[in-house]
Amino acid sequence: MPPEKLIAVIPGDGIGPEVIAQATRVLEFYRDRRGLPLALWPLDLGADRYLRDGTTYPPEVHARIAREASAVLLGALGDPRVPGLEHARDILFGLRFGLDLYANVRPIRALDDRLVPLRDRGMEEVDLVVLRENTEGIYVGMGGQFKRGTRDEIAINEDVNTRKGVERLIRAGFEYAVRDGRRRVHLVDKSNAMRHAHELWYRTFFELAAEYPAIEAKHVYVDTMCLYLVQDPSQFDVVVTCNLFGDIITDLGAALQGGLGMAASANVHPTITGCCSDPHGEPRVALFEPVHGSAPPLAGKDLANPLASVLTVGMMLGHLGWPEEERRLEQIVARAVAGMHCTPDVGGALGTRAVGDWVLDALAGSF
Ligand code: NAD
Ligand code: IPM
Ligand code: MN
Repeated sequence: MPPEKLIAVIPGDGIGPEVIAQATRVLEFYRDRRGLPLALWPLDLGADRYLRDGTTYPPEVHARIAREASAVLLGALGDPRVPGLEHARDILFGLRFGLDLYANVRPIRALDDRLVPLRDRGMEEVDLVVLRENTEGIYVGMGGQFKRGTRDEIAINEDVNTRKGVERLIRAGFEYAVRDGRRRVHLVDKSNAMRHAHELWYRTFFELAAEYPAIEAKHVYVDTMCLYLVQDPSQFDVVVTCNLFGDIITDLGAALQGGLGMAASANVHPTITGCCSDPHGEPRVALFEPVHGSAPPLAGKDLANPLASVLTVGMMLGHLGWPEEERRLEQIVARAVAGMHCTPDVGGALGTRAVGDWVLDALAGSF
């Protein structure tokens, strides 16, 4: 029996618990019916817990995740009762920054022609993956407010870009392209305006591109990227970009794959020999989450699409060493959409739980 893989599960806020309940059923199926060595560790973290006792992300929980877990499955964080979002930042950034998960891998793949909202375009033309830098940029929280609430108020957020951080993310993008049989990597930046930070990205990108002669290296400004994504997404294969632009373009990308209810993501720390190998040589825990947020207006109504979370579990299983199960889950999700066994956001009439039931039946019938 291989060693058990511990998976911390944080359903979170809003629709998070509803979609993660369905994703958890998939993991339980693999554990109980297929004998995968998985152990689930549910964590009561989120707005309810914060409002109850002030807890956001305790250091002892972080230490156990870092030491013992193989993966974390997260729903979403964000609750109108916590307008400052302090719990969300502590948990989400505690995981992303605290585990140094520098690559946020967000596939933009349409699984059915019907999901593509662009005129005369189909699923073959929407198949790219964005690698978003996940530990730096505008997200580091450096800066401050001065003379707050006065007419002379100053508000600053620093955009932090290190050579190490930029280089490892770009290299991870080229390595992803090589491994996944992709032909092209685009750098998306704003080096025409951000001439310090993004000149570093631009220079580093083309330096590294020289090491990957078989991969076509291209550059596009982020504003133009938005234009091209709508006009012709088929020109993109692998995209590397900074934290903020990666956040924004993957919501635009989600619209091309049927909406946020269909978009999955993995937060990982790729170990690349000679560049960012782990000093202890041990695989790091990775974080898996749908791209969407807590969607407060949908919460508690059995309306949220759980398929992004099912695809996210697929990415997790692929990462943990079962790539055939990732493919199986993707095929089942595609069948759910094709057969209209889905929620209203993607054209169906089922509720969250009923979609979960269909997925579990299809899964059981697929072996
Ligand atoms: P959102 O992703 O929650 O919702 C955006 C739109 O997509 C809404 O119309 C919503 O109804 C729809 N949508 C999202 N997920 C869906 C699903 N599974 N099925 C069907 N429709 C879905 O973004 P928002 O409204 O800007 O943010 C709400 C809260 O979530 C905020 O507090 C925000 O900070 C937070 N948020 C958290 C995460 C995260 O924890 N990873 C990600 C994004 C946003
Ligand atoms: C996401 C979210 C988060 C981000 C928010 C909640 C801080 O939008 O995961 O895409 O910007 O990273
Ligand atoms: Mn986002």
